[in-house]
Amino acid sequence: MKEINSKISGFYKLSVEERQKIIAEKADLNEDELNLLKNFGYFKSEQLDTMIENVIGSYQLPFGIACNFKINGKDFLIPMVIEEPSVVAAASNAARIARKQGGFQSNKVKAIMISQIQITNLKNIGDVEKEIIANKQKIIELANEKDPLLIKLGGGVIDIETRKFNTNYGDMLIVHLLVDVLDAMGANVVNTMAEAVSPYLEELTKGKIFLRIVSNLATHRLAKSKAIFDKELLGGEEVVDGILNAYEFARVDPYRAATHNKGIMNGIIALTLATGNDTRAIESGAHAYASLKGQYSPLTKYSKDDSGNLVGEIELPLALGIIGGMTKIHPMARLAIKILNIENTEELCQVTAALGLAQNVAALRALASEGIQKGHMGLHSRNIAKLAGTPDHLVEKVAKILVQDKKIRIDYAKEVLEKLTKN
Ligand code: MEV
Repeated sequence: MKEINSKISGFYKLSVEERQKIIAEKADLNEDELNLLKNFGYFKSEQLDTMIENVIGSYQLPFGIACNFKINGKDFLIPMVIEEPSVVAAASNAARIARKQGGFQSNKVKAIMISQIQITNLKNIGDVEKEIIANKQKIIELANEKDPLLIKLGGGVIDIETRKFNTNYGDMLIVHLLVDVLDAMGANVVNTMAEAVSPYLEELTKGKIFLRIVSNLATHRLAKSKAIFDKELLGGEEVVDGILNAYEFARVDPYRAATHNKGIMNGIIALTLATGNDTRAIESGAHAYASLKGQYSPLTKYSKDDSGNLVGEIELPLALGIIGGMTKIHPMARLAIKILNIENTEELCQVTAALGLAQNVAALRALASEGIQKGHMGLHSRNIAKLAGTPDHLVEKVAKILVQDKKIRIDYAKEVLEKLTKN
């Protein structure tokens, strides 16, 4: 392995093409590899260059559609961007099962975001808290002045919360601005507001303010969805019991809860990404919410109804938007929102919660019955067949033999291919 010197001064000032050249030299890229970098897909290189720093190319992922979803009586085709096989099929399948009993019911979600302001160096935290509460209206007015359009459309700061902490650096008073951000994800809006009110808060409290930033634990923006999954379509009573046991396992054991929630996030993040939203914000919010009661817990819960059907529910914070960020800039994100046929961010949250629930039911159903590998293996075997150099017209055939013989390996795929092409 040759050593690469990663110190490149002024890399960000170069054009995309100049950066490609440098990286190609440093990383010994051949012509095909360099051409891959030069393929910007549906983007222009200038567009990419304004999105992040040090751009040298663009990166594609599969864009699929989960079918069969009925949510609050309306049908949805759900775009999903994900690299993992079986996820889209699994979601569609669980949605088909939920459909028999009317589909998903998702709650109303108000787009309330929290902006945190950290006040330190306080002499008497109790008095300061009272002072802030007494001047609540003034703080709200100052924050709202920053975004007249949001106020005109019916959004803005709706309330203030305070939280007190005793820390190794003394008492800290944390002020939360609760902001209705309407159709935005909201981080930019609330960060601006928190910065705007901070000089006044410092003057009022005689304290020192350090952080002024959105909280991704958006507990005032909780999305909830519920569905009944037909017992027979799930595979019978034993499968329902298996799912209830799987839920109980996740409820008592954080090691299992992490994987349980990972399955939920397979769906939620695939749609978050497809719509150009911030996947990291959604992930951190979900996992923080899952830990809020002191133990990392599942984001879904399950029970049985009187007929033995499975009743599933999900609840998690979803700070999604259909304006701002990448949502309007990225052509595929715009397309995803069009395919979704949603009216507003609230509907996007309702769909996303339902998708998370469907994804979880599908995973638990597979785990509680035939196991997850069987479903995975179909696509995986096709990938292995391709990697073994199988021509397109023989991929299905080779993949089938790999699954049949339970040997999904490249060396075996080569062996099968050789036999097939010899005859
Ligand atoms: C794999 O991406 C997701 C699962 O592991 C989820 C689960 O175990 O519930 C199948």
